Amino acid sequence: EVLKLYDMGGIYSQLPPRTTPREMKAHIDALKYLKIRPDDVFLFTYPKSGTHWLWEIVGMLLSGRSEYNKNVKESQMLECQDLETLESLPSPRLLNTHMLPDRLPDNFLSSGCEVINILRNPKDVAVSLFHHIRDFENSVYNGLWSDFLPLFLGEQSKKCNTWEKILQKQTSTPVLNIWYEDLHENPVSEIQRVAEFLQVDYTIEDIANIADKCSFQNLYTTEMEIRHGVKARTRFGTPLMFRKGVVGDWKNYFTVAQNERFNRIYREQMNGSQLSFGRDF
Ligand code: A3P
Repeated sequence: EVLKLYDMGGIYSQLPPRTTPREMKAHIDALKYLKIRPDDVFLFTYPKSGTHWLWEIVGMLLSGRSEYNKNVKESQMLECQDLETLESLPSPRLLNTHMLPDRLPDNFLSSGCEVINILRNPKDVAVSLFHHIRDFENSVYNGLWSDFLPLFLGEQSKKCNTWEKILQKQTSTPVLNIWYEDLHENPVSEIQRVAEFLQVDYTIEDIANIADKCSFQNLYTTEMEIRHGVKARTRFGTPLMFRKGVVGDWKNYFTVAQNERFNRIYREQMNGSQLSFGRDF
């Protein structure tokens, strides 16, 4: 099957079920009118970088309880909810999106909201996205990794550093960047950074508890046991958003030639960027 991806606010992805491309475009246009509140916390992430992980962590920090969020991430995701639903959410909202900044609500930059971004080695992102697209339970795509990688390097790779460029140019909005690899290695100190950025009260025990509750194994199990049927699943019945959760899985997929090509395109795209996905790259 040919892979069909649609413009979801600058990022190319599958459409949510029951939405046509025309409806999606109208929805994204309408989001310009959403009023962002000063106490909103915004997760701005590239797909497959660990957004659901961060969602659980920040949800626990904001609520002051190390309990799993009763709501799924998509319930506060700009691409997935209509304006009225987003407007009716109580503060502080934990909004999240993969859209590019120029599609965001008009008052986003002046709102004073807090922005957290999780970044991940784009090679692991590519492998994760390949599985997401191919293994999604409604997917009609059964392409090979070697078919998928050129697609990723075409449309998707161009988006890698857009965030940084646009945010630095246009706003003094504080952005906290968290690296997936650091969160993986030192969850307690990285979660502490998030807590300090959000200025929430915490003890080290609270943070250690959140790190444990949000470990890959615990999130996977929770997803299977508690939310099964609510959240997205793969065609194998496993949670779509919690696949493997490791650093460096790309080494099991990339050939030497694919790696060289990726490095070349990455260098071109990231030219002039302050960000570097250095470790294990
Ligand atoms: P893999 O497909 O490499 O396993 P997103 O939430 O942005 O869609 O990102 C999904 C990726 O984050 C998946 O990567 C998923 O397994 C990984 N992930 C989710 N929770 C994690 C956790 N607690 N620890 C490590 N990785 C996690």
